[in-house]
Amino acid sequence: DERTFVMVKPDGVQRSLIGEIISRFEHRGLKLVGAKALQLDEELAKTHYSEHEGKPFFEGLIDFITSGPVFAMVWEGKDATRQVRRMVGATDPAEAAPGTIRGDHGLDLGRNVIHASDHEDEGANEREIAVFFDEEELLDYEQATDEWRYE
Ligand code: GTP
Ligand code: MG
Repeated sequence: DERTFVMVKPDGVQRSLIGEIISRFEHRGLKLVGAKALQLDEELAKTHYSEHEGKPFFEGLIDFITSGPVFAMVWEGKDATRQVRRMVGATDPAEAAPGTIRGDHGLDLGRNVIHASDHEDEGANEREIAVFFDEEELLDYEQATDEWRYE
């Protein structure tokens, strides 16, 4: 099954939204195969957000994402990258649909609670997983409920 990378940003951790966010993906039927709490240093932050280097908001984004602990996760399931992005919602929480994570928990573009791999960027999910996790840190397991989730 497809895996995707998700990270609760420093604002989400400070606002105690880790559990809320995990619950949403669990309830959807995605499988948690890796998780860790960490604080990004500048080098890791710049690697993760290298696609935005040179943009006007880049320095602010790096300052923010390194400003406190984050919670990094890998979720697995059918069409996981696209489905997680649909649940996360639009980049700007002010435009994100109610019912999405950003649409229910944010109001400001620079404090949008969560990162998820871009499904329109081919391979971004596995590239981002590799930045944050060694393969031995990721689980491969069956859930007894698998047959109740997939035909
Ligand atoms: P991520 O999941 O964090 O990658 O968000 P995204 O994929 O929805 O958006 P994108 O990758 O384009 O931008 C990365 C992050 O930079 C966003 O989540 C915003 O917090 C921030 N950002 C993007 N565009 C702007 C902008 O125009 N101004 C500011 N201040 N921040 C921006
Ligand atoms: Mg992005």
